[in-house]
Amino acid sequence: MDIKAVILAAGKGTRMKSETTPKVLHEIMGKSLLGYVLDNVKNFVSEEFVIVGHQAQAVEEFVKSNYQNAHTVLQTPQLGTGHAVSMVCPALENYDGLVLILCGDTPLIKEDTLRAFIDFHTSHNSDLTVMSTIFDNPTNYGRIVRENDNSLKCIVEEKDATAEQKAIKEVNAGIYCLNWGKIKSAFSQLKTNNAQGEYYLTDIISWGKEQNLNVNAYILEDSDEIYGINSRLNLAHATKIMNRRNLERYMINGVTIVDPDSTWISEDTEIGQDTIIYPATYIEGTNKIGKNCKIGPCAHIRGGADIADNIKIGNFVEVKKAKIASNTNIGHLSYIGDSELGSHINIGAGTITANYNPLTEVKSRTVLKDHVKIGSNSVLVAPVTLEEGANVGAGSIITKNIPAWSLAITRSPLQVLADWVKMHISR
Ligand code: UD1
Ligand code: CA
Repeated sequence: MDIKAVILAAGKGTRMKSETTPKVLHEIMGKSLLGYVLDNVKNFVSEEFVIVGHQAQAVEEFVKSNYQNAHTVLQTPQLGTGHAVSMVCPALENYDGLVLILCGDTPLIKEDTLRAFIDFHTSHNSDLTVMSTIFDNPTNYGRIVRENDNSLKCIVEEKDATAEQKAIKEVNAGIYCLNWGKIKSAFSQLKTNNAQGEYYLTDIISWGKEQNLNVNAYILEDSDEIYGINSRLNLAHATKIMNRRNLERYMINGVTIVDPDSTWISEDTEIGQDTIIYPATYIEGTNKIGKNCKIGPCAHIRGGADIADNIKIGNFVEVKKAKIASNTNIGHLSYIGDSELGSHINIGAGTITANYNPLTEVKSRTVLKDHVKIGSNSVLVAPVTLEEGANVGAGSIITKNIPAWSLAITRSPLQVLADWVKMHISR
């Protein structure tokens, strides 16, 4: 059956205390919160609708430039989560498939979990399924209220809950699956008679019960997955959870992580077997790292790196948007950006690819062919190409293309002034 996703991202995010960035565009290791949610649904839904409101323009731009099948729908003013979903009613007027509703501030949910959730919905012939989980401290979440026979009754928000309801530890994860044709009319019937005066999405549960529809809850075991980001503290905690999860996956797949406590690796990085990641290394964004590489200690890989096998990226080396062929060494203190490096290259300590011209704001490429050797403390001013086997003398500034197997060197001649020191020492 066709599945469409609705992602709620119009809220203000007051507790992030951010003037420059809407909440859902804050990042975990180089990817925005909304990016995680969109990536987790894009493989099994036909379209995504992102509800935008606060700082809508920035969110719209992000969605448009990164996700082809995603649309943004403006919600102004923001009258609650139920009102937010109702914004898609015109677009989905004649739609009769499934709608998966998620929040843009819940980046830890896994694709496999969402697939299992939808399977549960279909196999139970459910008309409406809500995801729930058990929290020891359920404060601030909506509570799942059940009937005596354990079937669902309703969801009650913290601010509307009685003391007895507040003791309930089963909470609403904020993820729903709807048979759209049967549930869509609920959105014109929601009321605002609650403590916050908002249209609550959660009220579709009791609405569904009243209509004698088949309403179910899917209980999520790993409650970390629905951890929501409301503050910078939450953001740091979620980054830790995400990182731990990623590092475990790499280690299980045969990558050595010397010190998991000081190593950060993004979800969208691929790493081959027998590669060793040394401490204090930070790898963000989307990257590919081959087999038998040695990365770090203290390396920074910033995204867009495509690193083949048997490569050494040493301490204080930063790599961004660079394709590097096998058996190449970048041992120490270097910056390699917007570059293409062949194999069997040696990059001396302190080599910089000067890729950015701040006057024109243009970034240019550096191309080094196989067997190039760069002496220490050299600057390669892009755009520039060094042909096969070219060598650069230490301390050089390379501003034009160098032919194959040539030596390029820019260096003022060495002067040795005999006894100069003795003559200048005052006794
Ligand atoms: C909501 C649920 C609560 C659940 C919790 C899970 C409701 C009424 N409550 O509470 O039961 O336990 O999520 O995290 O649904 N948003 C809009 N437009 C609006 C209001 C909100 O797009 O008008 C978006 C927000 O940007 C956010 C999401 O909806 O991404 C959830 O809104 P939020 O106000 O954070 O709801 P909670 O109080 O967390
Ligand atoms: Ca929230």
